[in-house]
Amino acid sequence: MRDWERDYICVIGSLNYDIIMKQKRMPFLGETYTADSITYSGGGKGANQAVQCAKLGIDTIMVGKVGRDTFGDTLVEKLKEYGVDCSCIGRSSSPTGVGVVHALEDGSVYASIITGANFDITSLEIDGLDELVRNSGIIILQLEIPTGVVEHIIRKAKQYHVYTILNAAPAKEIDRDVLKLVDGLIVNETEASFYAGVDMTDGGMVRAHADRLRQLTDGTVIVTLGSKGSMLLEKEGVVPIEPVKVEHVTDSTGAGDSYIGAFAYGKYKGMTDRQACCFAARAASVTVTKIGAQEAMPCLREIN
Ligand SMILES: Nc1ncnc2c1ncn2[C@@H]1O[C@H](COP(=O)(O)OP(=O)(O)O)[C@@H](O)[C@H]1O
Ligand SMILES: [Mg+2]
Repeated sequence: MRDWERDYICVIGSLNYDIIMKQKRMPFLGETYTADSITYSGGGKGANQAVQCAKLGIDTIMVGKVGRDTFGDTLVEKLKEYGVDCSCIGRSSSPTGVGVVHALEDGSVYASIITGANFDITSLEIDGLDELVRNSGIIILQLEIPTGVVEHIIRKAKQYHVYTILNAAPAKEIDRDVLKLVDGLIVNETEASFYAGVDMTDGGMVRAHADRLRQLTDGTVIVTLGSKGSMLLEKEGVVPIEPVKVEHVTDSTGAGDSYIGAFAYGKYKGMTDRQACCFAARAASVTVTKIGAQEAMPCLREIN
């Protein structure tokens, strides 16, 4: 029934410029503390998921907004290098979305973000991209742009019979009638707990309260559980997807985004939900072995 001739994936979401400082501790009030090192990294769930799709060899179009500043230039340049089509990334007078992360030696992380230009995208602009939406093979969304715009896109995509994946992250209220229309709802344990209204920190809890998540949408629900793998909630039952064992976990940043991009690849290629989840788990397991998000995501050859 679905038209798999539509030969690109469209990601509509966030782009962020992340500044990561490694340091032993946080400064005290009034103190100027010297950090040990700094790294810059392209991020934003939208951009990360687009990079994973593009790295797997699918034509991928990113829709979003950055500021008219050097951070915006850098993010767009990076995405282009990964093969993402950036012709629908707009510029706004707000600053580019930025994340400032302090990563301490004991593993704790303190982070602040500016959503900036990401929140300047409007439903009216989406209407201007009607052809793009209508002809997408799959549309991938997250909640790092205005929720009203995400809801608008989901309604539109449904009308055009386009398969939608919503990574409902970060967790926030969204119109429950619109949520029903989503084809693939993917959340991690934190987001699952928010939407289900009960703690869902492991597979047992997901299984016990699966119906609370299933009733959110008429489509498929997937809960990712970090190193514990993921759970596919089918209408007939709950299918645990084992994590792929890796020798050494270096940096789990972007694991979820890698999983989502690879799941989309699987669906785009006509895999069943189970097959797509297993493929996604393999992709994400490669991502956690390397530092960073976009740079760590695997191409097809690295997965096979
Ligand atoms: N330590 C790990 N070893 C192997 N796979 C992992 C590991 N951490 C994450 N993954 C894979 O990545 C997926 C997504 O990770 P998760 O942490 O749940 O997402 P998020 O980044 O959204 O919190 C998991 O379901 C799992 O398949
Ligand atoms: Mg996690």
